[in-house]
Amino acid sequence: MLRVGVLVSGGGTNLQAIIDAIDSGIITNTEIEIVISNNPNAYALTRAQNHGIENICISPKTFENREQFNEALINKLDEKKLDLIVLAGCMVVLPAALIAKYRNRIINIHPALIPSFCGKGYYGLHVHEEVLKRGVKITGATVHFVDEGTDTGPIIAQKAVEVKWGDTPEVLQKRVMEEAEWKIMPYAINLIANNKIEVIDGKVKINQ
Ligand code: GAR
Repeated sequence: MLRVGVLVSGGGTNLQAIIDAIDSGIITNTEIEIVISNNPNAYALTRAQNHGIENICISPKTFENREQFNEALINKLDEKKLDLIVLAGCMVVLPAALIAKYRNRIINIHPALIPSFCGKGYYGLHVHEEVLKRGVKITGATVHFVDEGTDTGPIIAQKAVEVKWGDTPEVLQKRVMEEAEWKIMPYAINLIANNKIEVIDGKVKINQ
């Protein structure tokens, strides 16, 4: 069984997609051990609760300094003996020590086709605003391993989504979630759970 911890900050629709994919057998050999949010009001915590999954808030705001927050987060993740950490709409900058400790065992979903519309400052709705501003015809989503950079780690899965005339950022965000994010995140986790992924020279090889 792949022991997974999910880090969230908001609505948790990607978390829900993972929960549903485990329930329906799209993801096999996988168990969510814990859901952690930096935001006490994240609806993602309620989703975890509704599904009987351990869930807690670890917020930087409740610690004296960042070091103490980092330590608490790492300790909690270590305690759960996780094989994989999934960032599902997690808006917290992870401690470098965590990234080094869990090398190629942390994945993130980004709401664009990396290397477009990614990097510092590109998160959430803002990504879709920039996509619309530039007028590209195709956007999408990417699941990648997390390294020390922002959205620079090895790419596991991508899916393209059409941008339509008249889209608002909200409309486009919803289409990207429905057509891409909620599909490629479960797909990527299932590959990892079934040992189908190798990282070679910073690139992901999928062995089907
Ligand atoms: C998702 O669109 C995800 O791709 C994005 O935040 C949203 C979270 O939604 N993540 C980033 O922008 C990371 N850079 P959710 O809480 O409903 O899953």
